[in-house]
Amino acid sequence: MTPTGGRRRLLVRDLEQLATPAGVSAPLRGNALAEVEVIEDAYVLCNGGSIEAVGRMSDLQSLDGEVEEIDGRGLCAIPGLVDCHTHACFAGDRVEEFALRAAGASYQELHAAGSGIMSTVRATRSAGPDALAAVVRKHRSWMLRAGTTTFESKSGYGLDRDTELASLQAIRNEGGIPTWLGAHAVPPEYDDAGAYLDFLLVEVLPDAAKLAEAADVFVERGAFDTAQARRYLSACGEAGLVLRLHADQFTEQGAVALAIELEARSVDHLEAIGADGVAALGASDVAAVLLPASALFLARPMPPARALVEAGAIVALATDFNPGSAFCESLPLVCSLAATQLELSPAEALAACTVNAAYVLGRSGRLGRLARGYNADIVLLEASDWRYLAYHLGGNLVAGVVLQGEPAELG
Ligand code: NIG
Ligand code: FE
Repeated sequence: MTPTGGRRRLLVRDLEQLATPAGVSAPLRGNALAEVEVIEDAYVLCNGGSIEAVGRMSDLQSLDGEVEEIDGRGLCAIPGLVDCHTHACFAGDRVEEFALRAAGASYQELHAAGSGIMSTVRATRSAGPDALAAVVRKHRSWMLRAGTTTFESKSGYGLDRDTELASLQAIRNEGGIPTWLGAHAVPPEYDDAGAYLDFLLVEVLPDAAKLAEAADVFVERGAFDTAQARRYLSACGEAGLVLRLHADQFTEQGAVALAIELEARSVDHLEAIGADGVAALGASDVAAVLLPASALFLARPMPPARALVEAGAIVALATDFNPGSAFCESLPLVCSLAATQLELSPAEALAACTVNAAYVLGRSGRLGRLARGYNADIVLLEASDWRYLAYHLGGNLVAGVVLQGEPAELG
């Protein structure tokens, strides 16, 4: 037997810096969100799919047996990024709509007129399971190139039984963490939201609950109200799913209070949240998942990130990657927006899309830190200082990714 128990070892050596959220607790709130440990002239030693050790090169003991090496000169290591809110399973695109919006049409007007989300539903319904798997695979490779090593993806562009289940299956098969967003919009074959919810809960939930980890609902004018969301989420919770909500994106509808009442895992968006909602979230265990790329893409106000952190809320960052409101898979760009638009420091941004995002996905014991015992998911940034993650606006600074202890093909 080798000294490593037969598992492959990988040493990333001579790094300019290694940066990781400090400590071991999760989720991080308040001042703890900014506590990043930085090791200069560092190494990471991976053993199979886990991290065996991190430290300074000067403290590295000689290693017995076969060890593969990566030269980290000119690079900084941060934890693999965790995207806890995407809509990566969709067919077609919305480039026409994008051009119309650029010429002045509003996202909500387009949605009300039957384009918007429904145009992606039409394309996704006609794609078929193989094409859906292929598209999730493509989007996953885009995310990996941007440093995302773990992604959640919602369904929600099928809105019929077969396409919703095929979407969840495709997300699962391609390594994503599936969330059932059956309650994304009311499809045209139903006269009203109540009848559509009857169908979802009777015909789809029993099988969706076998494939998904969480359920999500879009609470908004023109989508679902809080009474409908309560009904949908209560049934999903009884079926064992974690609960999440698209909340306060355009208007405050009471979704934050509902999330707290139902002990949801997260409320996502919050561009329109008011002071009472901020205070309530600060006193709760419901995470606030902020999506500044979506606010930017729709030219909407940014969510009140600073106030949420000050109130003690659990703040996470994600892309919201989707064809209509955030055609952006880059968490480094989201970190830049966090630092330039949300008044978060680079350290807070890093923790929000690593440890806190892992908490939202129920995986904070293994994901989100570079420390012994965590998954060996590592992003190597071409930079002399890890804060280039947020500083290099739109830059392509991911030089390499280690995924579960193996150097990944970035395509
Ligand atoms: O999170 N707001 C609801 N759903 C998505 C957008 C979906 C779309 O436009 O296709 C979001 O922004
Ligand atoms: Fe979303």
